[in-house]
Amino acid sequence: MEITYNKTSNNDKKVELDKIKKKCLSCQKCPLGKTRTKLVFSSGNPNSKMMLIGEAPGYWEDVKGEPFVGKAGQLLDKIFASVGLSRENDVYICNTLKCRPPDNRDPLPEEKEACREHLDAQLNIIKPQIILLCGRVAVQSMLDTNLGITKIRGKWFDGPNGCKMMPIFHPSYLLRNDSREKGSPKWLMWQDIQEIKRVYDTIKSE
Ligand code: URA
Repeated sequence: MEITYNKTSNNDKKVELDKIKKKCLSCQKCPLGKTRTKLVFSSGNPNSKMMLIGEAPGYWEDVKGEPFVGKAGQLLDKIFASVGLSRENDVYICNTLKCRPPDNRDPLPEEKEACREHLDAQLNIIKPQIILLCGRVAVQSMLDTNLGITKIRGKWFDGPNGCKMMPIFHPSYLLRNDSREKGSPKWLMWQDIQEIKRVYDTIKSE
């Protein structure tokens, strides 16, 4: 997959993102544009060098129009905070789909395809140096692999325009797996977020 970043200054980013958001608000490329309550475009800092891509809005995201604000989102905030990162300042957060699939079912291939242009537009404006692929759906959108998340989480992959991408567990998976023992999903997430912070600090000071 080829994404070619255009040059966009920090000041232009908000204007450009607002244009894409407007496009999403009137998008009817798939039926989810009719069934959603609110568009869930993004949150966080568009000037951050790190972007997180999740799956799709759930119930609370659809109600509030913001990504990762339900239980999974609260856990995500804690994971970032555990290494001194904040969602407001250190990461730009969005999803593979901008509208909620009914009953939180998995996004359909045609929905992912229809929404792809919006994700690519966000990537082109944000120009992240680190992309966190949060869960299976985000991994499948950005990486050409059939390997499960358990096999590839915590590894760095080459992303568009020289950026680094790391698959990480989705927080809703962590909510279903309570153990913190060595080797458990939560323990692995703790290893991954420390590695993410280490690399984030190096690019932040560049
Ligand atoms: N899960 C996601 O993948 N994204 C959200 O915004 C909320 C829950």
